Amino acid sequence: MIRVGVIGYGTIGQIHCAALQEVSGCKLVAAADVDPEARARAQKDFNVEVFASAEAMLASAEVDLVDICVPTHLHESIMLKAMEADKHIFCEKPLARSLEEGRRLVDLSKGYRRKIGIGHVVRFTPPYIGMRQSVEQGEVGRVGVVRTFRGGSQFPVGWQDWFANFELSGGVILDLMIHDLDFCLALFGDVERVYAKSTYGRTEAKLEHAMAVLRFKNGVIAHLEASWTSLAGQFYTTLEVAGKDGLITYDSRQSSPLSAVTGAGAAGQIGPVSVNPYALELQDMVEAIENDRSPLVSVEDAFGALEVALAAIESARTGQVVEL
Ligand SMILES: NC(=O)c1ccc[n+]([C@@H]2O[C@H](COP(=O)([O-])OP(=O)(O)OC[C@H]3O[C@@H](n4cnc5c(N)ncnc54)[C@H](O)[C@@H]3O)[C@@H](O)[C@H]2O)c1
Repeated sequence: MIRVGVIGYGTIGQIHCAALQEVSGCKLVAAADVDPEARARAQKDFNVEVFASAEAMLASAEVDLVDICVPTHLHESIMLKAMEADKHIFCEKPLARSLEEGRRLVDLSKGYRRKIGIGHVVRFTPPYIGMRQSVEQGEVGRVGVVRTFRGGSQFPVGWQDWFANFELSGGVILDLMIHDLDFCLALFGDVERVYAKSTYGRTEAKLEHAMAVLRFKNGVIAHLEASWTSLAGQFYTTLEVAGKDGLITYDSRQSSPLSAVTGAGAAGQIGPVSVNPYALELQDMVEAIENDRSPLVSVEDAFGALEVALAAIESARTGQVVEL
């Protein structure tokens, strides 16, 4: 039985702890958080041993796997400490706040004897898995254009309002758009160049909308949009893949969200599927440890998404195309 300790019991830490109850082969035994109220919540919700810091948990808790759910700017330092403590590591996306931090993690992870997985949860989300399979099976033929949207919800509320501090969070591109970047990279390979626009710095700090146009080395063009601009709107995502022989679309607001029109004129619809993608990504991590294999999303994969997200931020800042 793999013993799990969660570091950071905020929004996503609570979701992971609940998801871990559905994962076989592991047991949640500890939680660490600097906030006493969060610690009290974790103890009450899951009856686990609680610690006031990551360091305290790493030093004394009997855990095999640490699940890092702290704000983005702390991912690298806490991952390094977990590596020093010789733990298996699952860390929320994005891999890190900067390229330097990300590179350090890639370098150190290469010789590391424990497993490290990164929480790019869209890889475990059924409609996106379905979309990927359809495209890989050639249902729409050679892909030309991809369009994604993610957002619409209110500005995220976090510990000490860290999302509103761009230096800590990287804004909507690093926090939200990176989900779709990771998905597109997994499906279409390397990106050649990026051009992006963002409202960052032009509107109130808590209204951020960004658009990026990517050209992949294989010729695919993608338009990604991410938004924290609607104060009370529903969170939703959309995805559209257009190829020579057809079009597949997904819209999380629809009752039959995934639909396909292919070259033969056939139209298919797939209804909503009720699985918990957070449980699936954590199950993958546990099985990676049990079976001595790599988790589905590696540090290198997450570094790729980080690199393109930071390039988009740079493009939005300078108004220039960024070549990768
Ligand atoms: N995959 C997803 O769908 C998803 C969704 C939300 C957030 N995230 C990611 O998860 C991370 C956390 O986001 P969140 O929304 O849960 O933030 P949050 O602010 O709600 O929670 C962060 C928690 O970490 C604690 N914390 C801060 N510093 C700490 C430290 N040094 N040691 C231990 N605990 C500490 C805070 O007290 C807080 O409880 C971010 O990187 C974010 O990008 C991913």
